[in-house]
Amino acid sequence: MTSNTTQVQRPACRRTWVALVAAAMLLPAWAAAAQPLFSDSEIRTILSHGPWPARVPADPSNRVSGKLDAIEFGTRLFFDQRLSGRGTLACANCHVPERNWTDNLRRSAGMAEMHRNTPTLMNLAASRWYGWDGAADSLWSQSLRPILDARELAATPRHVAQLVRNDADLSCRYRKTFGAPPSPADDEAVLVNVGKALAAFQETLSSGPTPFDDFRDALAKGTAPAATSYSEAAQRGLKIFVGKGGCTNCHAGPNFTSGEFFSTGLSRHAPGGKPDPGRPEGIRKLLQSRFNLLGPYNDDATGASAAPVRQLAFAKSLPGEFKVPSLRNLFLTSPYGRDGNVDSIAEVVRHYAQLDPIRLHAKDGLPAKPLNLDANEQSDLVVFLESLSTFTNPWRPEEGGHCD
Ligand code: HEC
Ligand code: HEC
Repeated sequence: MTSNTTQVQRPACRRTWVALVAAAMLLPAWAAAAQPLFSDSEIRTILSHGPWPARVPADPSNRVSGKLDAIEFGTRLFFDQRLSGRGTLACANCHVPERNWTDNLRRSAGMAEMHRNTPTLMNLAASRWYGWDGAADSLWSQSLRPILDARELAATPRHVAQLVRNDADLSCRYRKTFGAPPSPADDEAVLVNVGKALAAFQETLSSGPTPFDDFRDALAKGTAPAATSYSEAAQRGLKIFVGKGGCTNCHAGPNFTSGEFFSTGLSRHAPGGKPDPGRPEGIRKLLQSRFNLLGPYNDDATGASAAPVRQLAFAKSLPGEFKVPSLRNLFLTSPYGRDGNVDSIAEVVRHYAQLDPIRLHAKDGLPAKPLNLDANEQSDLVVFLESLSTFTNPWRPEEGGHCD
């Protein structure tokens, strides 16, 4: 519209100007705005970030994935402090429902402080790797680690199995879920099934549609909502995100993560002077684990789910690489980075604004020079990132009932 204002000064041009305004009024407001408009390839990328919520298939490695009894059993376990060695700590103490399933602490504290930030549990179903370093390859095996970790629940397989065997309600739910009572002798088998029920519950945690999703769906239908419902600043930020920012290369798809591992320099915490090794150590732990998808507890008879793990032996990884986090509901999950040292979204963006993409181990399609985003571009990017959050937490605790 700015170019037209100069024409207003000149009476000779008034008719053209009026005609232009009239034409503009017939168009939706977003189309009349001079900037930003998206190219076809940008629109294709924007559409690839949806639709949302994404449909997720049941996990073939977990035979109770998606089953109602398992979800109910898993819900109980998640909130049950008796699962911990000392009976004082549940999963929900660190993954707090009202805090979008994180704790909003820099680094989480269970039986001892940990060296990493607590990730949210939203939108984890169907991920390929779990944990900041991807040391687990299924949601159920990832759920066993905190039970056994001395800094978290600090329990043993025996402790967990005895709890489930001896508590009437838990053993009833176990039987309904798995079709047989907990094995009286095999502690590990009971523990693994506890992990599978916990996973069935966590799979149900997904975040709702955001202002971005409304805008994306309107673009998909060929209409776009009025500028008032998705601000021009958010649209400009989106253009940077899918364009010169190169963000979409790693924060890809409907959940804004490729699920793979990179080094960004965002987190530098080095507990005891030793940098967090990240991915290479994660691969080593995963390949050693009895609970990985190559092991005896994978319920997927076809073996297809284990293929990515088998390939890991040949994977290239560098120290300092961490899993790309989802950007959904970011607003609710501060502080940021795997060490939780970054307090605000603006601070993350400032980090990227000066970053040399070569240090990101840039892949094809990423810009080859530092981004050099100016203050306006940075603030647009922040507005866009905020539009990936929803302020409703759809999860409500169920009213208890007895199992019989
Ligand atoms: C003491 C705090 C604490 C407790 C208690 C805790 N967690 Fe976590 N959780 C964390 C931290 C920290 C991480 C990141 C660990 C890492 O990457 O090494 C994490 C990671 C996870 C992840 C991986 C998320 C992702 O993005 O890949 C899942 C799933 C998870 N926890 C589930 C659970 C379950 C289930 C329980 C209870 C059995 C539990 N957690 C108990 C702190 C905790
Ligand atoms: C090369 C892959 C890659 C690119 C490109 C990339 N990111 Fe990231 N991003 C990551 C990884 C990996 C992390 C976690 C880093 C860590 O904590 O050490 C991360 C973390 C973040 C976080 C913190 C999220 C949280 O929950 O802690 C935000 C916000 C973010 N990125 C936004 C962006 C934006 C905006 C861009 C574009 C300017 C971008 N990213 C480009 C890989 C990437």
